[in-house]
Amino acid sequence: MPEAAARVLKESTSGETASRSKASAKSELPLSHVAIIMDGNRRWATKRHLPRAIGHKHGVKSLKALVKHVGALSLPYLTVYAFSSENWQRSEEEVGYLMRLFTDVLSEEFQELADNQVKLRFIGDLAAMPEKLRASMAEAVEKTKDNSGLNLQVAINYGSRLEITQAVRKIAQAVRDGKLDANTVDDQTINQYLYTSGIPDPELLIRTGGEMRLSNYLLWQSAYTEIYVIEKLWPDFTPADFDEAVSEFTRRERRYGS
Ligand code: FPP
Repeated sequence: MPEAAARVLKESTSGETASRSKASAKSELPLSHVAIIMDGNRRWATKRHLPRAIGHKHGVKSLKALVKHVGALSLPYLTVYAFSSENWQRSEEEVGYLMRLFTDVLSEEFQELADNQVKLRFIGDLAAMPEKLRASMAEAVEKTKDNSGLNLQVAINYGSRLEITQAVRKIAQAVRDGKLDANTVDDQTINQYLYTSGIPDPELLIRTGGEMRLSNYLLWQSAYTEIYVIEKLWPDFTPADFDEAVSEFTRRERRYGS
């Protein structure tokens, strides 16, 4: 790892750089975008004979700690998988709980995010979300749009195949309308029609909970992403675990097929 990045990681873990989270400073990490699959909240709760909801609550704590940490490191982009389009299949009780949790977190944690210069954005099929949550999301996006720190994308009702399908439909419509020449459609065109338009592809994807799959997350964007799977369950994931993932990333040889 470059010396500067190692130093920043060390200082941040010891809490000395918390005030650096203004993050207009250039990232000293060898990364611009990290994506996370926060898996294992329910297993964490079950292991402790606690209700599942408590696992999700502790998951929020891990996320808060991570957002602070990567903000202090001036990471430009962090994208977290909060609710997949498949998660609707869970019990009505759990889905209802998660929706209330998202709404509460947005109202309760909003000021702290804003104070840390976090710029929030949501990716996914948001139209299907409950009205109250949609209003909170829209307000948070509007109020943080001029912030200069971490760009935090929360994937909610997100599914990569749906994202790509919707992009294909829009591209087809643009071709029909004569606004786009089908022969010029390339990677860049497709990027522009995804929810992540304007955001660089993640260099690193971290999945907690030990499962070795992408679960319909950022499939297009992860074409060359390094994947790091950790057995730890999400509520146990710490900033030091993030640092270890970055260290491992720096040891990988990225060849992009060459
Ligand atoms: C995966 O664990 C986690 C979720 C489906 C919910 C993720 C949500 C949070 C961590 C809260 C973060 C909240 C905000 C506001 C963005 P799981 O339920 O699939 O656990 P399992 O693998 O043990 O079943």
